[in-house]
Amino acid sequence: MRANAIILAAGLGTRMKSRIPKVLHELGGKPLVRWSVEACTKAVGAPPTVIVGLDMPGVRAAAGEACSFVEQRERLGTGHAVLQARAALQEQGGIVVVANADLPFVRSESYRALIARQGENPGPLTLLTAEADYPRGFGRVKRDDRGRVAAIIEHAHASEEELAIRELNVGVYAFRSDWLWSHLDDLPVSPKGEYYLTDLIAMAASEGEPIETVTVAEEDEIIGINTRVHLAEAEKALRERINRMWMEAGVTMIDPATTYIGPDVQIGQDTVLLPNTHLLGEVFMGSDCKIGPNTTIRDASIGDGCTIDASVVEGAVLEQDVEIGPYGHLREGAHLGRGVHMGNYGEVKNSRLEAGVKIGHFSYIGDAHIGENVNIGAGTITCNYDGEKKHRTEIGAEAFIGSDTMLVAPVKIGKGARTGAGSVVTKDVPDYGLAVGIPARVIRKLDERD
Ligand code: UD1
Ligand code: MG
Repeated sequence: MRANAIILAAGLGTRMKSRIPKVLHELGGKPLVRWSVEACTKAVGAPPTVIVGLDMPGVRAAAGEACSFVEQRERLGTGHAVLQARAALQEQGGIVVVANADLPFVRSESYRALIARQGENPGPLTLLTAEADYPRGFGRVKRDDRGRVAAIIEHAHASEEELAIRELNVGVYAFRSDWLWSHLDDLPVSPKGEYYLTDLIAMAASEGEPIETVTVAEEDEIIGINTRVHLAEAEKALRERINRMWMEAGVTMIDPATTYIGPDVQIGQDTVLLPNTHLLGEVFMGSDCKIGPNTTIRDASIGDGCTIDASVVEGAVLEQDVEIGPYGHLREGAHLGRGVHMGNYGEVKNSRLEAGVKIGHFSYIGDAHIGENVNIGAGTITCNYDGEKKHRTEIGAEAFIGSDTMLVAPVKIGKGARTGAGSVVTKDVPDYGLAVGIPARVIRKLDERD
């Protein structure tokens, strides 16, 4: 049956004690609201309508452009929030799925099961429930003596006896559209002065309507985020879920508890991740790599057989068999060809290093193209910035750059050329030239076999 989805994201999340809205806090590097939007879109087949507060431009951006947005001008509760979407959705009929935006782990399969159950339900609504010993402040599902759902009792208003109920309201519902839109106006005001969406359940029950439930398949789906403690629990659960998946796919982790892999990462077989390794953003990692310990890789592509030790790699591309570290830093636009070796304290930005380049120690390479098998001596620096503009450095294949050479860009070092230790190169050096001094001058032409 045709369904529309509404995601409730206008709450401030006061229990987070934060200056930013709760749904903008990140889980696995992604804002909370984005998780619900993605799972819901997958199940419903179209992006949801997101209810946002007046002062929340960031929430729109985080939910994504494909969504529709409706404002809730006053925060008068979850029932009032849904009411804001009535004008936009009432005409469309079908099923209306409503989901809280603070439930990042509810899987699209659960949304689908809920929609399917409501499709067969003659009654007005189906709710997603869970059985759990740790209630996390969720509303309890109260049933009558014949086992029929009678009401949802909010945690704050529950009696001792009701608090002992293990069946919880997850915060995701499927309604028959006409019933939902005609009943929202009748919601009572709660003791907190809000209109609770959950009071619709008692309304349907008192009309004698059948209320269906679908129980989530996996326990961690119900990790809702109301406090920063919940957020940390969610990170842990996400980490365990992702790490288990990669270990089952053939990746070794010495210590999964200190291995942090984002949801948009790919890793090849027999790669070994050592403790305190962070793979964040979009990372494509090949097979047979050895990464860490103490390494962060963000938005990068790493070829097969690479070794990266105690380093930071951001926005870079590494071809096969590259060795980095310890203490290397590859920045945006670094492209290292096959078999490049960069030892300790190297930094590369916006530069292409062809196959076999060696940078043993302490160097900065920025805005450069470095030909095959070039050897960059310790302490070499491309002086690429004159205070206003960046300039390029070109180094031809097989060149040998002496220790502590300053390459004052723009400058070209020819193929097979050499620079003496400590030279400050301000002019181009021809192919097979030997340049020395400050500023460096070419003193002779090398034999190609030198
Ligand atoms: C809600 C449910 C509770 C359920 C729990 C599980 C109600 C009254 N209670 O409680 O039964 O067990 O979720 O997740 O619905 N929001 C708005 N506008 C508002 C208020 C809230 O858009 O005026 C949004 C929030 O941004 C949030 C969602 O609605 O994403 C739920 O609000 P929250 O305050 O987290 O409700 P819970 O106390 O968790
Ligand atoms: Mg909540």
